[in-house]
Amino acid sequence: MQHILVTGGTGTLGRLVVPRLRDDGCKVRVLSRRSREAGEGIAFVTGDLTTGEGIEAAVEEAEIIVHCAGSSKGDEEKTLNLVQAASRAGARHLVYISVVGADRIPVGSFVDRAMFGYFASKLAAERVVVDSGLPWTTLRATQFHDSILTVAQAMAKLPIVPVPAGFRFQPVDADEVAARLVQLTLGEPAGLVSELGGPRVYTMADLLRGYLYAKHRRRLIMSVWLPGQAARAHRVGANLTPDHADGTRTWEEFLADRLGSPNTPLPSTY
Ligand SMILES: NC(=O)c1ccc[n+]([C@@H]2O[C@H](COP(=O)([O-])OP(=O)(O)OC[C@H]3O[C@@H](n4cnc5c(N)ncnc54)[C@H](OP(=O)(O)O)[C@@H]3O)[C@@H](O)[C@H]2O)c1
Repeated sequence: MQHILVTGGTGTLGRLVVPRLRDDGCKVRVLSRRSREAGEGIAFVTGDLTTGEGIEAAVEEAEIIVHCAGSSKGDEEKTLNLVQAASRAGARHLVYISVVGADRIPVGSFVDRAMFGYFASKLAAERVVVDSGLPWTTLRATQFHDSILTVAQAMAKLPIVPVPAGFRFQPVDADEVAARLVQLTLGEPAGLVSELGGPRVYTMADLLRGYLYAKHRRRLIMSVWLPGQAARAHRVGANLTPDHADGTRTWEEFLADRLGSPNTPLPSTY
């Protein structure tokens, strides 16, 4: 039985990874900042990757670490704290989830950092993994449907909704990412593997319209030009991976399941 630590095992992606690993016969431990009761064959350990508190105990006896913990800032620091402890504990495989575009979206100016610093922090964390001395696998995925939904829900609260001009997204289903990550976790360390993107590319306005249609709402959508190099890179599709559109579940199918709306194409007039 393989001993596996999943960081971020309580998050959108991690909570889909954890039961798959357990059902594959692994002994799974989840790291969380909040104390949680063990249950359904899953053990929890309390710790914080930012402060380093509890990390030594978390990595103890873990042969494989699946690093799904993340936030909009500070992933480099969190990853460094994790790999230092994992190296001392002698882990034999570190699996990391990054984002498509991490290597292609330049984050130079203050404006870039303020809006798109996430991509720089994912790239820096990727480098920490490469330099860790541990055998590693990194998968870059596009935005999960859940994240697009969170953004759409927030935007739809506004009477007039600003959307970044020329931005397109290729949302992927978090469960499909989880399946791929588990397959990689149970395989040999493979370095940087093929990216994983969703089946279709949408403009931000179309993603938002799809959500509004599913909720029977209407909003005025206003295109806004974003400054900076990172925004320019988005406009030329640096956040997309059309050659790896391997996900199968569409945004419309996700909305139909999540919101209970009919899975019908968006009328062109909506
Ligand atoms: N969402 C996307 O569209 C997307 C796309 C591509 C890649 N990714 C990457 O996939 C990973 C998971 O994303 P997600 O959307 O599933 O994230 P999420 O739902 O926001 O969950 C974040 C997880 O990170 C843990 N976490 C945050 N800060 C922590 C800290 N200081 N110490 C320990 N644990 C911490 C949280 O655990 P507790 O709250 O229990 O402590 C939680 O389980 C991230 O690395 C993200 O960058 C996400």
